[in-house]
Formats: sequence, structure tokens, C-alpha cells
Amino acid sequence: MAEELFTDPTASKEEQYDLLLKQIASLCEDETSQVANLSNICAALKTTFGWFWIGFYLVDKEQKNLVLGPFQGPIACTRIAKGKGVCGTAWEKKKVLNIPDVNAFPGHIACSALAKSEVVAPILSPLGEVLGVLDVDSETYETFDVTDEQKLKQLCDWIGTHIIQ
Ligand code: SME
Repeated sequence: MAEELFTDPTASKEEQYDLLLKQIASLCEDETSQVANLSNICAALKTTFGWFWIGFYLVDKEQKNLVLGPFQGPIACTRIAKGKGVCGTAWEKKKVLNIPDVNAFPGHIACSALAKSEVVAPILSPLGEVLGVLDVDSETYETFDVTDEQKLKQLCDWIGTHIIQ
């Protein structure tokens, strides 16, 4: 396991993601615990980009909703129904959602009044079933762009094939 996370704030955002994703792969390669790996992925994203809230919501098949998983940031709501909020909508539509102003998203669930924009990416199994979502929130409007959408999707695709069973 890597003992230190290397970041390069002078690099382009795309390069920062590439550096991060490589390190995440090596950070997780010898560890089989899903909680340990998802926790370190949140911490690595937080260290690299410093966003306000970063976390996973995982599909609870029995309760048929999303339940809060490993995260970094303030306390958050624990359960989200399918189709509710940005997370439940990303689950239902199996799509990355980039919300530049959360107040303009009907049904947005405000875990914190400080969150202003967010991206939610679904985590799909190899069979295309949603296993959970990754939610990243920012304290400023319009924080996320197409690079964030693509790279967070790339990360979630990898998580869906390597980390979550
Ligand atoms: N805003 C999310 C809820 C999760 S919190 O932001 C951590 C939503 O609307 O689904």
C-alpha cells in the first residue's frame, strides 16, 4: 500500500485525476475490505481536490434504498429513496448528474445548506446493475465540469468492477 498520496496542484485537472486514479488502484490492490477501500478513496479525493463533502451511498437491496457509506465531510442523511434527490435520480437514470446550482434541482436533498453544486456518479456492476453512487459536493456554484463528470465516472466504473461486490 502507498504510504503517502502525491498531489500536483500545478497540473491540469485531468492530470490530477490521472495521478489520483493510479494511486487509488495501488492503494486498494492488496486490500479486500470494501469499507477500507471506499474510505481511502474518499480521503484521497478530499486530499486532492478539497471538496466540501465526498461520499458513497450504497444500494441496500433489502430496504430498496441508498444507505450512507464511507464519506469525508459533515454528517449527512443516511437513507435516500430511488428517484429522490440527486443521488436517487442518478441511481434511477444510471447517469452522471452534474448540478451547477443545487437550489435549481427539483427535489434536491440538502444535507447541508452550505452545499451549492454537486456531481453524482452511479457505480455499475459488470452486468449494469447500480451498486451505489459517489456524491461530491462543493460550497461554490458551478464547481464541476465535463472533466469531473468523465473522470468520476471512470473512477466509479473501476469501483464497480474492482471494489464493490
Ligand atoms: N444532495 C444529495 C443528498 C446527499 S448529501 O448532499 C451528502 C441529493 O440531493 O441526493
